[in-house]
Amino acid sequence: MALLEVKDLEVYYGVIRALKGISFEVNEGEIVTLIGANGAGKTTTMQSVVGLIPARAGHIIYDGKDITKLPCHKIVHLGMTQVPEGRHVFQELTVYENLLMGAYMRKDGDIKKDIKGIYERFHRLEERKNQIAGTLSGGEQQMLAMGRAMMCKPKLLMLDEPSMGLSPLLVDEVFDIIKAFNKEGTTVLLVEQNAGKSLAISDRAYVLENGRIALSGTGEELMQSEEVKKAYLGG
Ligand SMILES: Nc1ncnc2c1ncn2[C@@H]1O[C@H](COP(=O)(O)OP(=O)(O)OP(=O)(O)O)[C@@H](O)[C@H]1O
Ligand SMILES: [Mg+2]
Repeated sequence: MALLEVKDLEVYYGVIRALKGISFEVNEGEIVTLIGANGAGKTTTMQSVVGLIPARAGHIIYDGKDITKLPCHKIVHLGMTQVPEGRHVFQELTVYENLLMGAYMRKDGDIKKDIKGIYERFHRLEERKNQIAGTLSGGEQQMLAMGRAMMCKPKLLMLDEPSMGLSPLLVDEVFDIIKAFNKEGTTVLLVEQNAGKSLAISDRAYVLENGRIALSGTGEELMQSEEVKKAYLGG
């Protein structure tokens, strides 16, 4: 069964139709990527799924439940966590406090142990655990945003362009970490302009063009697609 199913979703900004009826699904255990150029509607899709932008038409089904009309604050309790575009961390808090905030809704488990787990994955965060987050580098803030999201123990982790603005080395590290989280059981919906790296780790992917799904397939299929090669893989 699909963990997330989006059916004929339409989103408007005023009179502008940003999503023109898109449908896609994410099955439990998968990594699914939406790729698309600037302005294609990737962020809009993600924000709509988490209830930050209302759907004008269509349905969003999560874990068998229709959440189309649910407000964001109710949706976050369903085990869906989003790392928005442009890494948002609590600037005034330390690295450690940011990670703690990630777990604030949890009633279960050993939070200290989970923070240790995050430090094992992100050594830089451990080295900088007492540093004020606002003074971290861009790449470190991206790692903190991802670490904080994982502290929520999401069933579905959604990442909006996690590789944006990172050095090639850090990009590889971020994709490795996404793969590792997935291996541990987290289902992932990824939005990326970095089509090559994201398709390589994706079970399936969709190409979003101008508010519509133009193509879909396995990550492998889309990497081989002439259209995708030409438009998103630099030839
Ligand atoms: N608040 C807004 N008001 C009006 N139009 C908006 C708003 N937010 C986004 N749009 C428009 O909706 C379309 C889709 O934008 P969106 O941010 O979803 O694209 P994107 O695929 O995430 O692009 P990028 O890769 O640049 O982040 C764009 O044409 C954009 O200008
Ligand atoms: Mg975007």
